[in-house]
Amino acid sequence: MNRKPEAVTDPLFDVSGNTYLIAGAGGGLGKVMARALSERGARLALFDIDEAALEHVGAAIPEALTRVVDMTDQDALAEMVQNTENRFGRIDGAINAAGLLPMAAAATFDEAVFRQCIDVNLTAAFLFSRTVAEHMRDAGGRIVHIASVSSFVANPEYAAYASSKAGLAQMVRVLAREWAPQNILVNALGPALTETPLTRDYLADPGFRRNAISAIPLGRLGEADDLVGALLLLLSPGGGFITGQTIYVDGGRTLV
Ligand SMILES: NC(=O)c1ccc[n+]([C@@H]2O[C@H](COP(=O)([O-])OP(=O)(O)OC[C@H]3O[C@@H](n4cnc5c(N)ncnc54)[C@H](O)[C@@H]3O)[C@@H](O)[C@H]2O)c1
Repeated sequence: MNRKPEAVTDPLFDVSGNTYLIAGAGGGLGKVMARALSERGARLALFDIDEAALEHVGAAIPEALTRVVDMTDQDALAEMVQNTENRFGRIDGAINAAGLLPMAAAATFDEAVFRQCIDVNLTAAFLFSRTVAEHMRDAGGRIVHIASVSSFVANPEYAAYASSKAGLAQMVRVLAREWAPQNILVNALGPALTETPLTRDYLADPGFRRNAISAIPLGRLGEADDLVGALLLLLSPGGGFITGQTIYVDGGRTLV
């Protein structure tokens, strides 16, 4: 009597048979997105700079193409994208879930760390977008970056991260305009604080965790699964008229 209904794929949100490339696929958000797309019949090419994390997600999705790639390395990135096309014949979409979150007071923020944050979160995001867009030229495609509530809100100690994520949200708008004629749709998701390897150490501080939760009107941290619905929208026919947007999936965090 308690039988689960048969899974129904709504054609509006269908991603089956499509090929997606995921940067930062070994991370807390990237691996959940990879699993969600794989479960819905997508073909995946996954990369990350962290070999162990990539192996972990690769073991769960053995049919995926997996490679260790540093996305700040333009040559390695180009090779990864080419390998994806060689393996699957086409690239329908790309998801950028790679990123760094260094936090420090502005007065003492280490310059090299600041530059590295911009390099990974913004410059590499640009290179990734451009490299995949070259392969989408004829058929169009979808690009989804993971921005952040920090694209919008200004938290102390977030000078590098918030700058990189605000830049990313604006870059998405520019690329959306430039590539609209090729039907390449460029968007971002803006998650609230979610417990992953990126944030685990900060959230281990009870005061930090309490403050983070109290800033979210829905009263809890984000979960990686919260992003799946909006991701499917941005990748599927249902999202075919959405471009240049950062969709905040944040429990209301950006409302304050
Ligand atoms: N977790 C959160 O609270 C949160 C909130 C808002 C936005 N985001 C953003 O979502 C994205 C994913 O975050 P996450 O929480 O999954 O973090 P995570 O640290 O769990 O995963 C990020 C992944 O990116 C990879 N990576 C880092 N530098 C790389 C490089 N140069 N080349 C290739 N891969 C690289 C890491 O190895 C890691 O596996 C990030 O852009 C992050 O800023 C996260």
